[in-house]
Amino acid sequence: MSTTFTLDTATDRAHPTPRVMRRLTPPTIRARKKDGAIDRPLVMLTAYTVRMAQLLDPHCDILLVGDSLGNVIYGFDSTLPVSLEMMIAHGGAVVRGSYHSVVIVDMPFGSYEASAEHAIRSATRVLKETGCAGIKLEGGEAMAETVAFLSARGIPVMGHVGLTPQAVNMLGGHKVQGKGEAAAAKVLADARAVAEAGAFAMVIEGVVEPVAIDVTRAVPCPVIGIGASAQCDGQVLVSEDMLGMFELVPRFVRRFDELGKRIGAAAEAYAAAVRAREFPGAEQIYAP
Ligand code: KIV
Repeated sequence: MSTTFTLDTATDRAHPTPRVMRRLTPPTIRARKKDGAIDRPLVMLTAYTVRMAQLLDPHCDILLVGDSLGNVIYGFDSTLPVSLEMMIAHGGAVVRGSYHSVVIVDMPFGSYEASAEHAIRSATRVLKETGCAGIKLEGGEAMAETVAFLSARGIPVMGHVGLTPQAVNMLGGHKVQGKGEAAAAKVLADARAVAEAGAFAMVIEGVVEPVAIDVTRAVPCPVIGIGASAQCDGQVLVSEDMLGMFELVPRFVRRFDELGKRIGAAAEAYAAAVRAREFPGAEQIYAP
């Protein structure tokens, strides 16, 4: 499916040459939910590299430079070792590879929790050094003050409630959240707190479906689900999961391709061609 865009050739003082596309912005994403309902579900995927951003951008509303890059790109077994420098390097690449989607960069573990001042120092670097439009941070009621502080100072914040992978040691693993009355009430209270603090949108991850639906109905900003419900205001997946790059994926992932298998087959064909001295062929060599 292709996406049709309007060509905008207008100029202004800050943009003396026409900007072919005007990017979506956090306020336009926020405004998509009116009177508690979204016009069309929001599409968000992760991207960490310029080429992946180029390929995904026309089909998405939001590209997330997730700290899941710690697992996907760097091979860590959790997101905890990810540094601000890694997020900035990949964030810049994704901004350079896109022109339509809002680019949001995850704040890595240890870069924002100590205080609102700590958070703004890190978030300012992320915005200045990548050109992204906003940041995402994990946590509910405990992070509400920080969300309000950043939002009031010009930094759009996407919240992240439910299963928050940076809290894996407190949660005792990547466990589904919101089971039972008290746990459901906690997820709802977290989401309300982040929304009231000014988040323009939030991710809800790994919660039982009725809780995801309650949260989506309860908060005014868009709620983007992963392992949550089709009734959320949008969906996000880690792109490599959805592309079938790994043999094992969580239950909530649907594989839209089998790229891992296809890459393996291509490498096998290349290896056979090299060993048979069949590659490079006549078309790939330079005549004297
Ligand atoms: O880091 C990430 O990729 C995320 C998404 C899975 C929501 O936070």
